Amino acid sequence: MAYAPVVITDLKQWFEKRHFIKRQGKKIGFVPTMGALHQGHLSLLEKSRRENEVTVLSIYVNPTQFDNKEDLAKYPLTLERDKTLAHKAEVDFLLAPTFEQIYPDKYRYKVSESDFSSKLCGSHRPGHFDGVLTVVMKLLNIVQADRAYFGEKDFQQLELVRGMVEAFFLTTEIVPCPIVREEDGLAMSSRNVNLSAEARSLASRFPAALRDSLSASEAKARLKLEGFEVDYVEDIGTRRLGAVKVGGVRLIDNVER
Ligand code: PAF
Repeated sequence: MAYAPVVITDLKQWFEKRHFIKRQGKKIGFVPTMGALHQGHLSLLEKSRRENEVTVLSIYVNPTQFDNKEDLAKYPLTLERDKTLAHKAEVDFLLAPTFEQIYPDKYRYKVSESDFSSKLCGSHRPGHFDGVLTVVMKLLNIVQADRAYFGEKDFQQLELVRGMVEAFFLTTEIVPCPIVREEDGLAMSSRNVNLSAEARSLASRFPAALRDSLSASEAKARLKLEGFEVDYVEDIGTRRLGAVKVGGVRLIDNVER
């Protein structure tokens, strides 16, 4: 197994390392996460390892993207386990910054988008995408990667990040990565650990309803009948996107239609 990743909590230390990596002309791949790593994250890390000489993983539970304090309090924190998984995945650098390091401005400055961010998840989670875009902008500037890897499960996030990178002439290439699913079809997510046994067994019907229904409204009706609280199901381009709550846990997913 490779060396354990260098764990960096002080960004100054990263800036020095970055200087040397860049001077050696090595390509940097970056996987931003909020930790509680699962197979989906590991697939992003694998792709980054294949395509770059240096892989950087960030673990930062970004408070500004949580519209709901309870959701933030319940977010799983598994740093020691994540370090072991990062080691196995041959991550070179693990950035685990503090709020003070990421937000020296105390979130006085933010990045916002004025159209798509208020739709779908944005219409149910006020301020969520401002928090996401702001932290992603900061992380992209901090890491200065050649490529950054984002999962397609968070499809709206991916589209908004792509748009931001284009709008602000950022130089990191955004690489979309396919959704990784459990055997029964449920998309992997850090929040899945919060599902009770009962909610977990119902949860696999969510992707099934998105996939097997003839229209978004049929999927919505079917999910309601099955006991989900439905935030939305909408067809956008060639995708059907949805968000539901089951047993107090919010799940999002999307399928090609
Ligand atoms: O997708 C996530 O885990 C988060 O939204 C991200 C991109 C790491 C920003 O906090």
